[in-house]
Amino acid sequence: MGGKLIVFEGVEGCGKTSQMQLCSQWLESLDISVILTREPGGTELGLHLRRLLLEKSENKPVAEVTELLLYAADRSQHVEQELKPNLAAGKYILCDRYTDSTIAYQGYGRGLKMSLIDQLNYIATAGLESDLTIWLDVDVEVGLARKRGSEAALDRIEQETITFHRRVEQGYAELAASNPSRIVRVDGSLSKQIVHQMIQEILRVHIKELA
Ligand code: TMP
Repeated sequence: MGGKLIVFEGVEGCGKTSQMQLCSQWLESLDISVILTREPGGTELGLHLRRLLLEKSENKPVAEVTELLLYAADRSQHVEQELKPNLAAGKYILCDRYTDSTIAYQGYGRGLKMSLIDQLNYIATAGLESDLTIWLDVDVEVGLARKRGSEAALDRIEQETITFHRRVEQGYAELAASNPSRIVRVDGSLSKQIVHQMIQEILRVHIKELA
């Protein structure tokens, strides 16, 4: 059986982490070997980059292109060190965020040029695309309220303005509309168990080994 790259995307607080856990348990119950990983931070180097990217910087803001390059560096290391070898070994990889996050956050959110983002995404991935991307669609206010209700303090990106997060949300909507065979929308405001059932059905439809 060939490996698969299944990506989970969405705005802050959309429920990716719990859905990835449920999905991983389900796949393992089918005797499928699963790797859970994320961007940024899926490698040792990436963990350092994640800290640099997400820690709050009071009076020395991270420049927008610097931010883009750091996400690209994290991705390049992740693709080489984790994604390619595990796909070659036939594993199912559940990845928390990938190239669409850069389009949504740095492209739509920050307003950086799409041609620059596409180029960097291509360099960082060497053309490796997801087999399927699940977009957990929740309203930005709902997602941010979930985050505020949790123990952890909001990170540098979560603290951005609501208009930034609305642009990111718009980015996901446009990405899903223009990539209907790769990106599938799931209503992330439904209960955890229902969302999980929907994801199971989507995977069965899109990944023929699971049908
Ligand atoms: P998360 O892993 O907890 O969802 O947080 C990662 C944060 O990094 C989230 O705010 C989205 C942001 N991000 C980008 O802005 N660009 C990217 O390319 C990626 C992968 C994440």
